[in-house]
Order: sequence, then C-alpha cells, then structure tokens
Amino acid sequence: MPQSHSRNSGSDDPAAVLDAMRAHWDGQAATYDQGMDRIERAFIGDGRSWVCGQARGRTLEVAVGTGRNLELYGDDVELTGVDLSPRMLQIARRRAAGMEHVAALREADAEHLPFPDGHFDTVVATLSLCSVPDVGAAVAEMRRVLRPGGRLLLLDHVRPTVAPLRWALRGLEWITARTQPGSGERFLRRPLEQVREHGFTIETSERSKAGAIERVSALKPA
Ligand SMILES: C[S@@+](CC[C@H](N)C(=O)[O-])C[C@H]1O[C@@H](n2cnc3c(N)ncnc32)[C@H](O)[C@@H]1O
Repeated sequence: MPQSHSRNSGSDDPAAVLDAMRAHWDGQAATYDQGMDRIERAFIGDGRSWVCGQARGRTLEVAVGTGRNLELYGDDVELTGVDLSPRMLQIARRRAAGMEHVAALREADAEHLPFPDGHFDTVVATLSLCSVPDVGAAVAEMRRVLRPGGRLLLLDHVRPTVAPLRWALRGLEWITARTQPGSGERFLRRPLEQVREHGFTIETSERSKAGAIERVSALKPA
C-alpha cells in the first residue's frame, strides 16, 4: 500500500491544515507572480512549456495557482484548473479571460478532486506537490481521475542530489515550518516516488540544477 507522506503545518487536523494553507496562499496571491518571475528565470527554464506542450484533450491542472501555465497549452486542450485558494484563482480567472481552451477554474482540494474516475486525458501539476499536505493522496487522486492510458505531467523542486544543498534545504524546511506553517512548503520531497508507488509507468524523468528541479511524464496503465 502506498505510504501517506507527512504534513508540515503544525496541526494534525486536516481541515485546520487546509484552512491555514488557504489563508497563506490567499495572502501570497497579490505578489506571487512578481516573485515567481525571478525564481523562474533562475531555476525553471522551459519547464512549464515542456509540461503544457504535452497536454492533450481534456486536461486537469491541479493547484493551478494564478494561472501562469494557461497561455502555454495548445488549442486542442480543454482545460479545467483547481486550487485551494480563492485569491489565487481570482488572478487565474483574470488571466483566462478570452482564452477559449480554459473551460473552468474552480476551488478544490488536490487530495479530494471533485471529478469522476477516468474523466481526464491529462493531469498536470507544476510547483504544487511541494506544498500539498499529502503527496501520496494527491497522486492517488490524480491517478483516479485520469483515464487508463492518460498522462500525468509534473514539474517541481525536489530533494537535490548534492548533499550540502540537501543539508541547507533541510534547514530551510525547518525554518519555513516555523515561520510560514501555512505554506506547507517542503524541500526534500521527490513526487516521482509516489508516482511509482501508485503504479504509473514512467516515460521521462529529467533533473536539473543539482537535481533540485525535476520534470516527469508518466502514464496510467491502460
Ligand atoms: C507554489 S504555488 C504554485 C501555483 C502554480 N501551480 C504555478 O505553477 O505557479 C502552490 C499552489 O498550490 C495550491 N495548493 C496548495 N495545497 C493545495 C491543495 N491541497 N489543493 C489544491 N491546491 C493547493 C496553493 O493554493 C497555491 O496556489
């Protein structure tokens, strides 16, 4: 049985964890894009285009945030985006104005997706599994809503391969858990492990930046 992966919020009550995270990301929404512009130039490169360029058909973006990926999808995609934070979604909706491929942007928890089994051809998550409380539960939900043969596409910062960087990030995780518990931010995860545990077939996993950035494409067995 796949393991559940730990929480980082200071509370064991799942509803309180989500409330704290929602409040955190609502508070970040206004400045998120500005901060991400800088981080992306340094670390992410073409990662978003790599992910979105492979999406096909009915596509779900989990934790869509302010919608930074929206313009990168092809016209053959019919996109649904979900996020925990109403304020992040408000910005995503502004971005989506006039984009015909964006079908819906709605509030939902990655660990309890409000969609039937096998509903999507593609599921995408970028820079999000680093903060959801339980990566295993989120990956299980992504698998459930994918059709057999459907594709999962991930981009995230993960546990680096270089030891001194890992030690530094362990310290940063400790500090973040105490100063910004609502962020849920983890620096030493590697969602590929949960993707494997949940029986996906890995097509591609590529790491860069001392192993700290990873992009993954994986198929739900047909
Ligand atoms: C670092 S931001 C990434 C946003 C976007 N994916 C991007 O690539 O810019 C993390 C996002 O995850 C969302 N989030 C965190 N936990 C979530 C959950 N359990 N369910 C849905 N969204 C969640 C937050 O609200 C926030 O918008």
